[in-house]
Amino acid sequence: MEVISSLRVVQERADRLRREGKRIGVVPTMGYLHEGHLSLIKLAKQQSDVVITTIFVNPTQFGPEEDFERYPRDLERDRNLAQEAGTDILFTPEAKAMYPEGYRTYVEVTEVSSILEGKIRPTHFRGVTTVVAKLLNLTKPHVAVFGQKDAQQAFIIRQMVRDLNIDTEIAVAPIVREADGLAMSSRNVYLSPQQRKNALSLYRSLQYAKATIEAGERSVSALRKGMEDLLRKSEPTRIDYIAFLKPETFQEVELLKPPSVLIALAVRFGSTRLLDNILIDIPS
Ligand code: PAJ
Repeated sequence: MEVISSLRVVQERADRLRREGKRIGVVPTMGYLHEGHLSLIKLAKQQSDVVITTIFVNPTQFGPEEDFERYPRDLERDRNLAQEAGTDILFTPEAKAMYPEGYRTYVEVTEVSSILEGKIRPTHFRGVTTVVAKLLNLTKPHVAVFGQKDAQQAFIIRQMVRDLNIDTEIAVAPIVREADGLAMSSRNVYLSPQQRKNALSLYRSLQYAKATIEAGERSVSALRKGMEDLLRKSEPTRIDYIAFLKPETFQEVELLKPPSVLIALAVRFGSTRLLDNILIDIPS
């Protein structure tokens, strides 16, 4: 595995690979890799000849009160994990190279960046779309892989790629969970042992919704009430949202209709925010 931190060098490598007729797959990450990230690298490997994994804790997607400084980092460990999963090139740019003095340009997907996560973190998606656009320009992939774990992010990136005519296919990989159901996240390390136990309520409430829908329930208010009751038992610091969305548009729905619904939630334990979601088929 080659490790590149220079922007110019990675662009030259990508150019050369394209000239050689190689299909490039890219997996953007902020590091502190876990099985969720590794599943994306493995999927990229299946879909391309050369996998570029990027590790960059992107300052522009963190709000002023957020965890940018204390976001977990371990490049040595990440290097081994990325290689074992099939990474050919590890791209680790420096913040001052990505955002030099005088940097002025931002990419913004309107509307859908202001709801749910975007309502709570107003500048977050602008930072995500900006850095992903830059990473795609630097690594020139045929395919880029993202996780369903961050469903709104994946939706917004697809929209950006479509709107800006970026010549990259976007693949979305399923959520990887711990054995007990908790969705893997680099931020899970912030949880105390008690919070870690309580955090299972996210997955449980999604499973409850799935079973209740399968039993015939179609009312969003009834489902939301049941999920809230389950979540509250785990003493969360705050339930930020429980959203019932049309997966094709990310619009909220009041009554469930075929073919499917995406239920997305964000819950805080202490200062740690956890996200989870599930896509449920609605039979006609
Ligand atoms: P990060 O949180 O490191 O996640 C990198 C990728 O891994 C994202 O596409 C995310 O959805 C995916 N991922 C995280 N946990 C997962 C899980 N349990 N199962 C499956 N996939 C999972 O998301 C970001 O970084 C950044 O916003 C980034 C896109 C890199 C831009 O800075």
